[in-house]
Amino acid sequence: MYKQLQQRGMDSPPVNVSTLRRMKTEGEPIACLTAYDASFAQLVDMAGIDLVLVGDSLGMVIQGYETTVPVTVDDMVYHANIVSRGLSRAFLVVDLPFMSYATPEQALDNAVRLMQEGGAKMVKLEGGRGQTAVVECLARHDIPVCAHVGLKPQSVHKIGGFKVQGRDRVAAKRMVEDAKSLEDAGADVMLLECVPNEVGEKVSQTVELPIIGIGAGPSVDGQILVLYDMLGITQGRTPRFVKNYMVGADSTLDALRSYVNSVKDGSYPAKEHCFS
Ligand code: KIV
Repeated sequence: MYKQLQQRGMDSPPVNVSTLRRMKTEGEPIACLTAYDASFAQLVDMAGIDLVLVGDSLGMVIQGYETTVPVTVDDMVYHANIVSRGLSRAFLVVDLPFMSYATPEQALDNAVRLMQEGGAKMVKLEGGRGQTAVVECLARHDIPVCAHVGLKPQSVHKIGGFKVQGRDRVAAKRMVEDAKSLEDAGADVMLLECVPNEVGEKVSQTVELPIIGIGAGPSVDGQILVLYDMLGITQGRTPRFVKNYMVGADSTLDALRSYVNSVKDGSYPAKEHCFS
């Protein structure tokens, strides 16, 4: 019955929220990637990725939309479910898509779907202090939450494009306060996207929970990239923080392993992947 107790004796037992907290305490960088289907999920898991995100970036890299706004809860459930079948060790986090968490009740209903139908172990939502009631509600029901701050792609039409956030002093201060209020509301993990190194550092000093960065510099506790970006599948201009790990790799698995190693030994992100 208690499969988790049996798994504890394994060489590499499945990652859970306690593992992530321990990794932060022990200073072991958390290597994360997105995935959208079972085959890639299996490869990513084999490569030693600690956390897999079924991101609503699937709207852009799988469905071909220009933004993540058209993605629905049904889309997320479908992809989460097929990714969950490919994983054995990595921790599965799934995005609540645009406008699926406008009220605490709606967030709860949709988070339950992502967990029961999609196999999510944690849900991610984009927000600041305006989302504390939603995070509190999910936390009160013991639903693990990852709070996404910094560049929030679901707000692209409000902010006027995918751009670095927190560049001026007032915006940086506001972001740090947002991060703190989400932690206080009960978030378990934070994702920080596209901010200058200095802001990444400030958020890390303020918040105690594990912080996963994407274009947030080296001071955070882990790194994440969109799978199709780091495998060089995405065509055209990619953001500064993207590194193409297929360059010089013998296989996809080799590229994924080299990403994991570079996160673990701190060589990724290098200076050229960071914002000042
Ligand atoms: O949807 C997504 O893939 C994300 C990335 C920032 C990791 O949230």
